[in-house]
Amino acid sequence: MDLRVGVVLLCVMGLTCAELVKYIDCGSSTGKVMTVDISPCPSLPCQLHKGQSYSVNVTFNSAVQSQTSKALVHGVIAGVPVPFPIPIEDGCKSGIQCPIKKQQSYHYQNTLPVKTVYPAIKLVVEWELRDDGNQDLFCIKFPVQIV
Ligand SMILES: *[C@@H]1O[C@H](CO)[C@@H](O)[C@H](O)[C@H]1NC(C)=O
Repeated sequence: MDLRVGVVLLCVMGLTCAELVKYIDCGSSTGKVMTVDISPCPSLPCQLHKGQSYSVNVTFNSAVQSQTSKALVHGVIAGVPVPFPIPIEDGCKSGIQCPIKKQQSYHYQNTLPVKTVYPAIKLVVEWELRDDGNQDLFCIKFPVQIV
């Protein structure tokens, strides 16, 4: 199912359109994504205004134990991933209490600052959180438009 179809279906089913499944799972291997909340982002693609910060809240369940967690964020422009710097890479300082335990749910919370020097383009943000073994506890993608 395509992302837009999913969004429309959820809205039709009467669920609040503010708390949406506004992401694509890009290969979470040692965890399972439950919900993703990007705020403010009332509709897709998320309109990211230069100079502003957006909050990202990913709720996931871990299938492994891990001492560490490290976030990697990329902007995918025309299929090419470009590093997207975030202030705190350490997932254990982003709402997760480490060590991460097996079969436990966590809320990963971070901010996505949009620098004024970024070009006004459409791209896909790919956000990964890696465990001790460099595997993805989660990997999500969502479309954005920098304005
Ligand atoms: C993050 O999302 C979860 C699940 O929807 C929610 O329980 C939690 O309160 C949220 N945290 C913040 C800071 O919004």
